[in-house]
Amino acid sequence: MRKRILIPWAMLGRGKEVLKKSKSEVRYLHGPKGELPTLKELIQAVCQADVLVPRGTQPVPQEVILSNPNLLGIANYGVGYDNIDIATATQLGIPVTNTPGVLTETTADLAWALLMATARKIPQARDFVLSGQWKGPGGKVFMGQDIGPGGSNKPKTLGIIGFGKIGQAVMRRSRGFKMNVIAYDPLMKEEIEKKRGMEYRELDDLLGKSDFVTLHCPLTKETHHLIGVRELELMKPTAILVNTSRGPVVDEKALVSALQKGRIAGAGLDVYEEEPELSPGLSQLENVVLLPHIGSATQDTREQMAVVAARNAVAMARGKKPLNIINPEVFQSTKYLQK
Ligand code: DGY
Repeated sequence: MRKRILIPWAMLGRGKEVLKKSKSEVRYLHGPKGELPTLKELIQAVCQADVLVPRGTQPVPQEVILSNPNLLGIANYGVGYDNIDIATATQLGIPVTNTPGVLTETTADLAWALLMATARKIPQARDFVLSGQWKGPGGKVFMGQDIGPGGSNKPKTLGIIGFGKIGQAVMRRSRGFKMNVIAYDPLMKEEIEKKRGMEYRELDDLLGKSDFVTLHCPLTKETHHLIGVRELELMKPTAILVNTSRGPVVDEKALVSALQKGRIAGAGLDVYEEEPELSPGLSQLENVVLLPHIGSATQDTREQMAVVAARNAVAMARGKKPLNIINPEVFQSTKYLQK
């Protein structure tokens, strides 16, 4: 019998091609403009599927997974997988995959663009021009923060939290700006210490020394609210926080309050605690640049992510081990072996 692959979002062309060639039975489920199905619709469709391919941050909670314990796999379209209840999937012998690698450079580009836009107030200055407020010299000046050494030739310090693939790609981008680079990632301490021109720092030390703090860690129990009131207090008043990882890594209410009080100079955010909702007060702030979770959003990268997710889905539908497995222990479990 042909295996059934469920895509509950508007998958991109190159991924669709992979699925078409696999000769699986593919079901696309989304609104005319790519709107995602409701939880109820998702549960109904998952009951009729062998493999589910969720879209990045699309929630796949316990109730969705329990609705079909016979699933052969969940192939997430995204590198982060905090949207999926991995524990339940593992208990039921369901392999879960993600799409690492292909989005590294694109996400690092966005983090860097956000850092620069926030430091130099680019969106605020653009709004000023477009709204006709620019009347030439003598008016408002958008004084920003230097990223490079500036007029007084003092190198700035970049603090990278999370030194996986994306954190490392951000570090490479900093080279042209002659920055001092420090990083915190307990799992990568040795790697960081081996890298030329950078140093390992514990979190508090990094926060106190950085002119820019950029977050690149996954969302886990340990990283939830990693940056809260206390950590924001440790940062320099001139520092800028950039978050392109996951919203809940930062206590957003605490961040709004720190920005309102001028405890730090600014924040560039691509992710939020309750997407697409913003914490009260966030959008009224002058010193923020806010983006709608577009870290990996270029045509080429999103197409490649679709290809990787589709290949993982096809492999799992065929009972083969996929390339990007998150919970490899399932392959030894009785629940998986009995499927
Ligand atoms: C990712 O791949 O994790 C992106 O943030 C999209 O969810």
